[in-house]
Amino acid sequence: MENMIHSTPSHTSLPDCFVFPADQVLPASSAVVSLPVIDMSRSRDEVRRAILNAGKELGFFQVINHGISEQAMQDMAAVGEEFFRLPAADKVELCSEDVTKGTQLFSGTTYETGGERYWRDCLRFAYDFPVGNCTKDWPDKPHRLLEVVENFTLLTRGLAMELLRLLCEGMGLPLDYFEGHLGGGYVTLDINHYPACPNPSITLGLPPHCDRDLMAVLLPGQVPGLEVAYNGDWIKVQPVSRAFVVNFGQQLEVVTNGTLKSVEHRVMTNSALARTSVAMFIAPTEDCFIGPAAEFVSEENPPCYHTLRFRDFKRIYNVVKLGSSLNLRTNLRKVQKET
Ligand code: OGA
Ligand code: NI
Repeated sequence: MENMIHSTPSHTSLPDCFVFPADQVLPASSAVVSLPVIDMSRSRDEVRRAILNAGKELGFFQVINHGISEQAMQDMAAVGEEFFRLPAADKVELCSEDVTKGTQLFSGTTYETGGERYWRDCLRFAYDFPVGNCTKDWPDKPHRLLEVVENFTLLTRGLAMELLRLLCEGMGLPLDYFEGHLGGGYVTLDINHYPACPNPSITLGLPPHCDRDLMAVLLPGQVPGLEVAYNGDWIKVQPVSRAFVVNFGQQLEVVTNGTLKSVEHRVMTNSALARTSVAMFIAPTEDCFIGPAAEFVSEENPPCYHTLRFRDFKRIYNVVKLGSSLNLRTNLRKVQKET
């Protein structure tokens, strides 16, 4: 438990293990570029076009009027914050670096960098959807956690599936293209906690990475921190009231043969305020083969990516560090060499 960052009451200086080389923590320029905000109460046609445009241009967008109640969003944020405020004794049993565990509390993940640690604690739930009886290892505190996580996952997964259907409509894929194995794998819900940090300019909350799954829906919280790669720079995502941030995972890039991009993002920390965000990811099943859909392949557009079992893709993602690449497409081609 002593390695949970937030369990030290106040950090007056940054421990050396969290310090990154200067070239890896270059600040975003101050140029203001906003993520598109898509109002889902507009006509289906408009929403579909807006999502496709935003997706093609930035790979990231925010959605408002998405049909998920403010109460469900607030409950999720509140329960997440409450969890990280619990006394250490209530959390110690959950601490684990074992990625095969359904529920895992971990801290300062090193990823594949020079060994530096990231300024983040994370409570992760990964389970077959729907939740069924896999909640037996779930924490029993705060007392509403189980109910809130289950409800929030159900709602955000529903939103992600609706966004995928809109994408299918817009791109000429069968509407149920992602309904089966492609979108039916483990659902992961990460409650990320980035404690206030004594020196935000020399560390990172999360490294530049692309999400390896199909789609992520993020409750970003009120405190800024998320940054999205854009033209060699970073866009600082300004939280919009009641919005979710949505981005495409690498599997969506593969399926669309690169038409939709999975874009790098990172999290910067903050010296004044702790930040809590909640990310829901949908993924293919482990045994599902995933590659460019026939609709995106032609003589002029040969497949840019190999078809791989999702299980194998994940293994390679970890070995060749796909997630931290500055150029995802180059690295996905690397996958082809590895296999
Ligand atoms: C992630 C992620 C962003 C955030 O969990 O993969 O990119 O703002 N999170 O916490
Ligand atoms: Ni991410």
